Amino acid sequence: MPKPTAPSSNAADTDPHEIRVFTKQFLAQTAEVVTRCFLNHEAMTASQRVPEPFFFQFVSSLLRRSHEDGLSMIALDRHDGHVAAVLINEDWAIGPPEMDWDPVFLPIITLLDKLGQTYSKDLDMRPGFYFHLFMLAVDAPFKGRRLGDRLVGESLELARSKGFKKAVVEATGGASQYICRNLHGFEERHRINYKEFRYRDSPIFSGIRGEECTILMDRTL
Ligand SMILES: CC(C)(COP(=O)(O)OP(=O)(O)OC[C@H]1O[C@@H](n2cnc3c(N)ncnc32)[C@H](O)[C@@H]1OP(=O)(O)O)[C@@H](O)C(=O)NCCC(=O)NCCS
Repeated sequence: MPKPTAPSSNAADTDPHEIRVFTKQFLAQTAEVVTRCFLNHEAMTASQRVPEPFFFQFVSSLLRRSHEDGLSMIALDRHDGHVAAVLINEDWAIGPPEMDWDPVFLPIITLLDKLGQTYSKDLDMRPGFYFHLFMLAVDAPFKGRRLGDRLVGESLELARSKGFKKAVVEATGGASQYICRNLHGFEERHRINYKEFRYRDSPIFSGIRGEECTILMDRTL
């Protein structure tokens, strides 16, 4: 008699994280993860000591929009249902949210704008064409477990399914640059070195240690 075979294990048995599209019920937790992660670990946000209440409000505005357009993704810890990682995505044709910008945040926006304008000055920015991978954040205890990699991969699938034609990212540090370029086929278009960037004549990011530059990359979907 043939031996009975063991039931095959499914993803939920073996994979401690569930990757899914962001929905509003996770708004507060997701905003907390992105805020904590960026204020402590993202090169420019940490170096500018961006105030937490402003940054939390900024991220929450982005996430409210994300709930409507269904473009952002989260990784949930299956064990306790908590948000472990986030990738806030958007349609690049939609501008930043309306809000009062904290002055310390303006150099960051200026650097990103400069890269974006150099890249897009001759491009057709119609809605539904450019998928923007905007803020990738993995909560500290979950770093190095491929969640960043997986969120990028799943977001690219989502973008394809929604009919976007190109993906664009401004990767602000070595890990996100590696994930996008080496693991997901993005190609470098423009870069700004932190040591060379000037904001109102001041080398405002020259004190950043351990990261060199922000790189704007794209890929066809
Ligand atoms: C960037 C970040 C999202 C990476 O998330 P993660 O889940 O830890 O990343 P992964 O485990 O998927 O992959 C990390 C990969 O990058 C590599 N890496 C890490 N630091 C690196 C560096 N400085 N330079 C090059 N590669 C690096 C790792 O070796 C790993 O690759 P490997 O598995 O092939 O060895 C996370 O560190 C983070 O939240 N940082 C703070 C916020 C931030 O800077 N976000 C990016 C803004 S665009």
